[in-house]
Amino acid sequence: MNTTAAINVAAADEVQEGRILALYVQDTPLALTRVTGQVRAFGDICTHDGGPLAEGEIIAGCVVCPRHGARFDLTTGKPTFPAVYKVPIYAAEEKDGRIWVIITPSH
Ligand code: FES
Repeated sequence: MNTTAAINVAAADEVQEGRILALYVQDTPLALTRVTGQVRAFGDICTHDGGPLAEGEIIAGCVVCPRHGARFDLTTGKPTFPAVYKVPIYAAEEKDGRIWVIITPSH
């Protein structure tokens, strides 16, 4: 990760497996979780109809939209029906007890 572009967004222990932390960073709605221990950062707006993904569930490496059930892969951003467009995935890293994110989608 290019740490000069990374933003310190949260304490590492605020981001937990099976939970989603929602926040705004530079006017970007962002959601953070962990998948098998690794931090994942993704856009907090469903590309189907604007559902709040941070209010959804994490299942098998995907976030499930609480409105109509689209699943977004948290590595690639790829959706299932009824969403068609990917959700943004951001580079994220844990360092020195903090979570760092680059607010430019990597996928
Ligand atoms: S708003 Fe997310 S699946 Fe419809």
